[in-house]
Amino acid sequence: MRIAMIGTGYVGLVSGACFADFGHEVVCVDKNEEKIAALRADKIPIFEPGLDELVARNARERRLSFTTELAPAVRDAEVVFVAVGTPARRGDGHADLTYVFEAAREIAASINGQAVLVTKSTVPVGTGDEIERIVREVRPDARIVVVSNPEFLREGAAITDFRHPDRIVIGTDDERALDVMREVYRPLFLNQPPILPTSRRAAELIKYAANAFLATKITFINEIADLCEAIGADVQQVARGIGLDNRIGLKFLHAGPGFGGSCFPKDTLALIKTAQEADAPINIVETVVSVNEARKQALARRVADACGGSVAGKVIAVLGLTFKPNTDDMRDAPSLVLVPALLKEGAVVHAHDPQGMEQAKPLLPGVNFCASPYRAAEGADALVIVTEWDAYRALDLGRLKTIMQSPVIVDLRNIYRPDEMAAKGFRYWSVGRPNNMN
Ligand code: UGA
Repeated sequence: MRIAMIGTGYVGLVSGACFADFGHEVVCVDKNEEKIAALRADKIPIFEPGLDELVARNARERRLSFTTELAPAVRDAEVVFVAVGTPARRGDGHADLTYVFEAAREIAASINGQAVLVTKSTVPVGTGDEIERIVREVRPDARIVVVSNPEFLREGAAITDFRHPDRIVIGTDDERALDVMREVYRPLFLNQPPILPTSRRAAELIKYAANAFLATKITFINEIADLCEAIGADVQQVARGIGLDNRIGLKFLHAGPGFGGSCFPKDTLALIKTAQEADAPINIVETVVSVNEARKQALARRVADACGGSVAGKVIAVLGLTFKPNTDDMRDAPSLVLVPALLKEGAVVHAHDPQGMEQAKPLLPGVNFCASPYRAAEGADALVIVTEWDAYRALDLGRLKTIMQSPVIVDLRNIYRPDEMAAKGFRYWSVGRPNNMN
């Protein structure tokens, strides 16, 4: 099939490359000339495991191409995906749909008679209706069906998620468009594709509801972790004890510093706004957002407690800056709240991240960026693990102990065992586990 993908951000690039890998002919379009020039030279602007190889191979085999010219790319496409950014609008938390509507207008003007126009960008409920209105206005003569097909990819695992989806939601009541979409995804499945046809509005809401539910699950276990600290229980035991109930499930029950990233913070706010405007406020999600924010604000306090009450004049080694491992994405990362708070309290911050340091540098002025976790730990009064990169899971504890000023570790991701740390002579704080040294 001939597919045009508008927007080569995270979603567009991963989806475009994966569709090409199915055997479809995919043209990826982006207005940013530098980005397209780089992609044509096999240079991938983001870090995502396996993506560089996937893009290079499909480009070489001529199923995947890149252009800044939207009109020729969409003219003969059977399916046009819109995967442009929808940042949270300044001030009110609404998703900013300027780029989506602009793209819809341009696509409609350029299409040759008929096509299925699919929104992959996360857009508020009702956006499909507005796109349809725009398309009808620009091209009353064309047969363009507007479909919602939200994506559920996780950064760092996007290619695997694309190839093994739990479900593919297709929001349309047009049977022909549904058949076209089944054809797009057909190469994924030998039989029984988990395709879920829904109304377009339901599809749009499913994306927000899924992210808000996951954010709620994380926030729930984070609060249970705080309770565990107060009463002397282990949150990992509690998480397993509830998660083995199939109705609850084990995933997304890891207590930590609070959720971040480009999706949960933005999508929870957008859902809150949509619900308030529809006069059906979702109080639970409003609470999740404020509890998560407060949690990030309290992180520096945890570090100060581990340092005997204050970090003033202390050297703090921060390991992990990105919002999660296997990405270089710094958006809404807990480190962006913790590190400035430590600096404000008078700490000297040494930081390391395996992939995120280039992105982090302009965002975290005043930090001493180090080439390895051990360089960061040299002379440190405490070491704080903020992101659970594999590279931090088996640190040489003996070496750390000799190079640090004091053997104090604050593990915000619970990647070490308290008994192991105690045996090695560390004073160890983690999240929601009983033997925190307070
Ligand atoms: C999330 C969803 O998981 C995807 O399904 C969705 O497609 C994507 O948003 C999106 O809307 O595009 P992502 O933001 O890549 O994916 O990251 P997650 O793995 O979901 O993690 C989000 C945040 O929650 C991270 O800060 C992570 O550290 C935190 N988290 C996650 C926890 O603190 N505990 C957990 O148990 C799980």
